[in-house]
Amino acid sequence: MNKLYIEGDKKLNGHVLISGAKNAALPILFMTILAKEKIEINNVPQVTDIKIAIKLLKYLGAKIKSKNKILYIDTSSINVYYPPYHLTKKIRASIWMLSPLLIRFGKAKIFFPGGCDIGCRPIDLHLKGLIALGVKIVKKDNYIIAFAQKPLKGKNIYIEKISVGATITIMSAATLAEGLTIIENAAQEPEIIDVAKFLNTLGANITGAGSDKIYIVGISNLHGGYHKVIPDRIETGTFLIAAAISKGFIICSKTEPKYLTNVLTKLSESGANIKIGKDWIKLDMKEKRPRAVNISTSPYPGFPTDMQPQFTLLNSISQGKSIIIENIFENRFAYIHELIRMGAKIKIKKNHVVCKGVSQLSSNHLFSNDLRGSATLILAGCVAKGITVVNNIHHVKRGYESFIKKLNKLGANIKHI
Ligand code: UD1
Repeated sequence: MNKLYIEGDKKLNGHVLISGAKNAALPILFMTILAKEKIEINNVPQVTDIKIAIKLLKYLGAKIKSKNKILYIDTSSINVYYPPYHLTKKIRASIWMLSPLLIRFGKAKIFFPGGCDIGCRPIDLHLKGLIALGVKIVKKDNYIIAFAQKPLKGKNIYIEKISVGATITIMSAATLAEGLTIIENAAQEPEIIDVAKFLNTLGANITGAGSDKIYIVGISNLHGGYHKVIPDRIETGTFLIAAAISKGFIICSKTEPKYLTNVLTKLSESGANIKIGKDWIKLDMKEKRPRAVNISTSPYPGFPTDMQPQFTLLNSISQGKSIIIENIFENRFAYIHELIRMGAKIKIKKNHVVCKGVSQLSSNHLFSNDLRGSATLILAGCVAKGITVVNNIHHVKRGYESFIKKLNKLGANIKHI
């Protein structure tokens, strides 16, 4: 079941419902450790990373029930401050347990996190931020132990490099610190706004999330509450690409167009006809082959690194030549070797690739290596000539809810083998 059999030459047309954002739901789930009352989280995507996060919380002692996309979480019974290695290693997001456990118990032991193999992905900025708030960190071979005098002391913290992960770690630690914390050079991703909104629902006092300066006035404790996770902008972008590469049309609903401004601009540049509404995006290629577009990734509101693989695929079958520059992660081109085996004309030079569009890719046996690369290879198989087999599809299940089912509903023919 870890392989897909994909019939190519398909046009992907129709309507798709967008799920909740994995990258917002994951930190929100771990932030529940900060409160000792009942919390309800809606629109949680049913993906493997979330299942692992739930297992981690249960291991720590939380009580969790789920119904449809709602999680009912009670962390009052948490009594363990050292999440296990075998689960922590599976997801990058597990680093977000560090702050809440530390604040709850005055100490925490965390193994270095896992996640997609797209670069070395250090956690130094998370740790520097915590140290600035008064935390003591002892690093061992594959884990860290952190100690804190409660409460932490609010501080001005300038994050040297824009980091989604570090911004969330520091913001959560400062929520229950004494006094004011100001995070400068903060990441501005919509997922950060959602985490701040969630914490504020529980009583936190956070302002400025979504800008490069976040103000957190520490409070003494958090209460329970209800929160609905924002739509997944990367899932939305991936489905828009599905229609664009197959000269089709698609309506993505239950999404948030304003999170995708850069992606939509590039899709329009490539020839797509785009209309947006309050919570939907319609893309129509009008049967035309896309035009190649140059991409350069950067932190939000720049072009998202999580959409780089999908756009490289678009460029690989577009009219013309393009340059794609990856500025966030140093090893995010593994999937390109597979596209080349399908006939794509792509050359990798350090952190950029030069792509000359071909009219169609051809099928092959492919191996996926990471989440977004895996989704990209599946889409490539849908439009290539012949039958494509994609191996290691556990990667795509980590972050896309019912991806295969949704694609088949749009006209793909994908089977598990
Ligand atoms: C999150 C997302 C990921 C997305 C990325 C950038 C989750 C679970 N993952 O990852 O999908 O691709 O944001 O939008 O939400 N860095 C350091 N030291 C640190 C932390 C980061 O040097 O302590 C570097 C990273 O190596 C990278 C850059 O900063 O080059 C950005 O990383 P960051 O924004 O933290 O990404 P993640 O939170 O890991």
